Amino acid sequence: MSAKVIVTIFGASGDLAQRKLYPSLFRLYKSGNLSEHFAVIGTARRPWSKEYFESVVVESISDLADSHEQAQEFASHFYYQSHDVADTEHYIKLKKLQEELNERYQAEHNKLFFLSMAPQFFGTIAKHLKSENIVDGKGFERLIVEKPFGTDLATASQLNEELLAAFDEEQIFRIDHYLGKEMIQSIFALRFANLLFENIWNKDYIDNVQITFAEKLGVEERGGYYDTSGGALRDMVQNHTLQLLSLLAMDKPSTFSKEDIRQEKIKVFQQLRKPSQKELQTLFIRGQYKSGTVNGKKYISYRSEPNVTPESMTETFAAGTFFVDSPRFQDVPFFFRTGKRLTDKGTLVNITFKQMESIFGVPLTPNVLTIFIQPTEGFSLSINGKEVGEKFQLAGNTLDYRTNATASGASPDPYEKLIYDVLHNDSTNFSHWEEVRASWELIDQIEDTWANNQAPLHFYQAGSMGPEASFELLQQQGTSWIWQPQANNDEQ
Ligand code: BG6
Repeated sequence: MSAKVIVTIFGASGDLAQRKLYPSLFRLYKSGNLSEHFAVIGTARRPWSKEYFESVVVESISDLADSHEQAQEFASHFYYQSHDVADTEHYIKLKKLQEELNERYQAEHNKLFFLSMAPQFFGTIAKHLKSENIVDGKGFERLIVEKPFGTDLATASQLNEELLAAFDEEQIFRIDHYLGKEMIQSIFALRFANLLFENIWNKDYIDNVQITFAEKLGVEERGGYYDTSGGALRDMVQNHTLQLLSLLAMDKPSTFSKEDIRQEKIKVFQQLRKPSQKELQTLFIRGQYKSGTVNGKKYISYRSEPNVTPESMTETFAAGTFFVDSPRFQDVPFFFRTGKRLTDKGTLVNITFKQMESIFGVPLTPNVLTIFIQPTEGFSLSINGKEVGEKFQLAGNTLDYRTNATASGASPDPYEKLIYDVLHNDSTNFSHWEEVRASWELIDQIEDTWANNQAPLHFYQAGSMGPEASFELLQQQGTSWIWQPQANNDEQ
């Protein structure tokens, strides 16, 4: 069913809007989820005309449209208002435009607000939306917020308070774009639609879980932001890694409703073990890339990147061990690592099952289930088989299933999926405040240890898989990273 809604985007001239939001809205339009009863108000400081805004929208969807007429028809739903977020007058104009468009498009007063700008403005925007009666309790009113949601628990709590002045928790959709990715979604299916796995998804059968988010790219043009407010732990672990972990570790929800799934996810966040002072120094490691050569190409060090302080202590790599104190996973290590300028790009989970030492005196390797999230998508399961021949020798076999649904365009872009969910009031794939709060509590502990220099910063060569310390971390627990890509190797 096609949605009736007026969407207001704060930050409409920005990169995210052009790269992700307009194309995603267009795909929803093409698939009939948006049709005649919708309009988009774009706001930003720049003094754009409606014509110019339309041309920006048309340009952003040029690869997706079947014809120029189709692109033009879609863009005709877009209106622009030059907006200073601190100026009350502008909200009065915005309300007028909102009401006019509601009439014209018969949108039943439904409103969706998308905050795609720096978080320091969120509070001001929310306050004005309420005080100027744009949020007026008529129709549905939903707010989508981009990350980062704070840089620690204190800033996240303040931000949350500010938003709660105008919206209830149930109306706030905090984006974690990984939750919109096809393979993250299929973890539900893998776990709960296969008794084979569901019955062994616990500490009796699983030895350890390894989560890798590896990037080949460096910090690119985001050096200034990354160096002051980022770092791998805040940028990738507080959100994406812990969200993924919660889907892997949660108990089966009693029904597949958003409420029950949420409840199980929140439980995992609350059960995350708080490390002791000593564990904070031994279970988590940080790294930063030095210069290096990848496949013949030279890369500069992080400290030489534009807008990065030459003596920066910001980590571009983080690894560590989380534990979930639940009956299901008590004492099973969840190892994670994430970094920039690594050997290869790949997001994947390796689940290592417990194994017997040997059979007939022949040593056994453990079974590993791998969930490939990107760039390839799918699963593989390594099993032990017998080598052909008279003797009893074991040979490793891999059952491998990969698709290319995202690359081929068969599966939706994360933003398309997530906006679709918001239109359908489905908050399953968004971060609940309780999750954000619990994750910052844990991350703050690690950040404090690092800020006080109680754990060393390890340097690694650009193009490697991170510092030695990350390998030693697993060795100390009697295991090793399963995914060890080699330079020059395109396949995982
Ligand atoms: C973002 C981080 O959330 O995720 C970036 O801020 C990172 O630093 C990006 O590069 C990775 O996302 P993807 O979808 O390209 O794997």
